[in-house]
Amino acid sequence: MPPPLVLAVSKGRTAKALVPLLSRAGIDASALGHDDRTLVRDVGALRFLLLKADDVPTYVEHGAADLGVCGRDVLRERGSDLLVPLDLRIGRCTMVVAGLAAHSGERADMARVATKYPVTATAHFAARGIQAEVIALAGSVELAPTVGLADLIVDLVETGETLRKNGLVLIEQIATVSTVLAVNRAAYRLRHAEIAALIHGLRKGIDQGAPPSGVG
Ligand code: PRP
Repeated sequence: MPPPLVLAVSKGRTAKALVPLLSRAGIDASALGHDDRTLVRDVGALRFLLLKADDVPTYVEHGAADLGVCGRDVLRERGSDLLVPLDLRIGRCTMVVAGLAAHSGERADMARVATKYPVTATAHFAARGIQAEVIALAGSVELAPTVGLADLIVDLVETGETLRKNGLVLIEQIATVSTVLAVNRAAYRLRHAEIAALIHGLRKGIDQGAPPSGVG
């Protein structure tokens, strides 16, 4: 028996969203949805490692996992050297610049920007000729403008509810984000048949979960 294919997955929403997708691909991964605190879950020939989203590329780049499931936002921020053969069409959201409604029309040459994505934010403002003082936060980024910690934020928006509830408005869209399958380059060569079969199954699961054409 070959060793299991190891997938690093961000725990929580992403792991839960994977369960129906894998099920449509013929893989019963209900064990992934359990909140039992175990960080390794074996599902047939697959082994899932449940991690913080930011750590998924690290495990895959170092070969501790063959594949990873995480957002494009994390891969972009980390500049990860991984193959990305498949968009899983889950976790769709937008990376945006937002700020207080009262200041939304102002354009400044300098800005204090709070974000979980310092690399992405720095590159974004530099490309626009705006000198950004980037303040790295770990979460609840929408609070920063309200309390005067920053002028702007760079963060993800899904429904827009968190922006609204915190008095912020969208200023600019930076990129669309979704959850993707990322693959270690060496594993892709060495275990190509198994990985290709997994990608094939996932692609079928994605297509079956897509709304009929003309809807949505
Ligand atoms: C994410 C994101 C926004 C929020 C957007 O945060 O960073 O804060 O969700 O969702 P919405 O547009 O549907 O309101 P998360 O819940 O991951 O928590 P965090 O702020 O601690 O990162």
